[in-house]
Amino acid sequence: MSVCFALLGAGRIGKVHAKAITGNNDAKLVAVMDAFEQAASELAAAYDCEVRTLDEIEAASDVDAVVICTPTDTHADLIERFARAGKAIFCEKPVDLSIDRVRECLDTVRETGAKLMVGFNRRFDPSFQAVRAAIDEGRIGDVEQVVLTSRDPGPPPAEYIIKSGGIFRDMTIHDFDMARFLLGEEIISVTATASVLVDKEIGELGDFDTASILLVTASGRQCVITNSRRATYGYDQRIEIHGSKGMLAAENQRPLMIEIANEQGYQRPPLHDFFMTRYVEAYAAEITSFIAALRDGAEITPTGEDGLKALILADAALKSATEKRIVEIG
Ligand SMILES: NC(=O)c1ccc[n+]([C@@H]2O[C@H](COP(=O)([O-])OP(=O)(O)OC[C@H]3O[C@@H](n4cnc5c(N)ncnc54)[C@H](O)[C@@H]3O)[C@@H](O)[C@H]2O)c1
Repeated sequence: MSVCFALLGAGRIGKVHAKAITGNNDAKLVAVMDAFEQAASELAAAYDCEVRTLDEIEAASDVDAVVICTPTDTHADLIERFARAGKAIFCEKPVDLSIDRVRECLDTVRETGAKLMVGFNRRFDPSFQAVRAAIDEGRIGDVEQVVLTSRDPGPPPAEYIIKSGGIFRDMTIHDFDMARFLLGEEIISVTATASVLVDKEIGELGDFDTASILLVTASGRQCVITNSRRATYGYDQRIEIHGSKGMLAAENQRPLMIEIANEQGYQRPPLHDFFMTRYVEAYAAEITSFIAALRDGAEITPTGEDGLKALILADAALKSATEKRIVEIG
């Protein structure tokens, strides 16, 4: 039996998930809802499903699960609403920008027994999964240092920045989750520095566009994250891990994996231009994992708790950058 989905929010990431759901043999996209009617009807036409209201989706007996792709400030309310309605929930990151609100929302999830997965797609990237598998197999010994490089091709518009919660909660949150995924131990301290080097307007809005973060675990394992809202050469996503017996690396991906060498030197095609193409396999794999967990009754990861822990690290990084000090995680 297919898992039947309703998609809430038909914007950038909503379109990616619609493609992943409809490309999965064990899933069916039944309905779509968006505050902007045209966005919903275009997606419904593209994937042959119905446009429905939230009330209709809530009451629908032919909807098993919702995928929340609406703006961040709507996530917690929607999670609570659909948890009470008995639907399984996949929610895009972050659950909310307030730690208190996330805790309250996760209480409702716990009380209702709802199934909730948070969209930390990078855990499902085939190369990053292979990195994690190599660590688990002991191929580089004990993890000692993780280096995460994560740069967007260009800054988002001001309207996005205003609602984003800032670079740490919006962008670095993926890296905080990857750090936890790869370090194998919880993080106990955060040191961050942040600047405005790309776009003055981002600074005027009270945010940063360039950040470096150092995370440390109880045993002293370290992770360094570098973020920028600009990379002139494309979407820069790399991982390097140093262990007691070796080193592991996941290099940037390109739509075309060729190399040309001639008298001008070595040349390779550009990187992916952004997340919609770079992580297409990861988005499909995370939806597959969600579906498999719903069908088999298996544990769902990443959980709401993973979402909360990444947000706690984001808040600690902001505190560290603004107060210019190391912040301990309680
Ligand atoms: N995991 C990832 O890689 C990733 C990537 C991008 C975005 N996101 C997250 O996904 C969410 C959406 O981001 P996006 O970039 O797709 O945004 P977007 O603006 O492209 O799309 C949001 C859609 O939601 C609709 N909408 C707005 N308010 C609504 C409401 N109250 N009810 C229903 N629909 C509403 C808008 O009309 C729009 O179509 C954000 O929380 C963002 O953090 C995650």
